[in-house]
Amino acid sequence: MMILNNISDMRKIVDQWKKQGLTVGLVPTMGFLHEGHESLIKRAAAENDRVVVSIFVNPIQFGKNEDFSVYPRNIERDSSICQRAGAHAVFNPAADEMYLDGFSTYIDVGDISKELCGKSRPIHFRGVCTVVAKLFNIVKPDRAYFGQKDAQQAAIIHKLIKDLNMDVELVVCPIVRESDGLAKSSRNVYLNPEERKAAPVLHRALCAGESLISSGQKDAEAVKKAIADVINTEPLAKIDYVDVVAFPEIKPVNGDISGKTLVATAVFIGKTRLIDNFIVG
Ligand code: PAJ
Repeated sequence: MMILNNISDMRKIVDQWKKQGLTVGLVPTMGFLHEGHESLIKRAAAENDRVVVSIFVNPIQFGKNEDFSVYPRNIERDSSICQRAGAHAVFNPAADEMYLDGFSTYIDVGDISKELCGKSRPIHFRGVCTVVAKLFNIVKPDRAYFGQKDAQQAAIIHKLIKDLNMDVELVVCPIVRESDGLAKSSRNVYLNPEERKAAPVLHRALCAGESLISSGQKDAEAVKKAIADVINTEPLAKIDYVDVVAFPEIKPVNGDISGKTLVATAVFIGKTRLIDNFIVG
């Protein structure tokens, strides 16, 4: 497995693969890999001749008071996970390789990026779309792999691909969880033991919401309230949002739930912001 730090080296390798008629899968990540990322890499390896994992903590998707400078990093450990999972190359550029002095072009997908996480992270999805478009231009993948863990992100990338006629197939993979239901996340390492014990409340609350819907409750407000009530039983938890939106449009559902619907939450456990979701319909 190769580890590449330069855009030009990455392009050369991809060009060689393409000349040989090989298909390329891309798994974009910010590193500090866990079994969630690993499931994406394995799926990509099963469906493509070559797999590139990008590991890049993208500065432009973090707000001023967010965790960019302390975001966990461990390229050695990440590289061995990538190799084990079947990747052929890791693309790990430095920030100044990706963003030259004077960089000023950003992609804004519009209203879809203003709901849910977009409300508390106003520049986040602009940064995500911009870096993902750059990665697509560098790696030219046939398929790109994203997790349902970040369901709004997946919907936004879907729209980005469609709106800009990008020639790449989006594959969305299921959420991988710890045994107590907590969705795997690079940010889980921020949790102290007490917070770690509290964190599965997100999944517990969403499960309560999901069974309420299965038992016939259609009213979005009632579902949101039931979920919030469970989260609020946990003293260390502070809700950012609990929301019900049409999927993949990410438009708020007022009144009754019908059709494909995303139920999503973001919750602070101490200072750590965690997200989780499920899709019905
Ligand atoms: P990151 O948080 O590292 O996640 C990389 C990919 O792994 C995303 O598509 C995410 O949805 C997926 N993922 C994370 N946790 C998962 C889990 N528990 N189960 C399944 N998939 C999971 O998302 C980003 O990085 C960045 O925004 C990025 C797209 C790389 C752009 O910088």
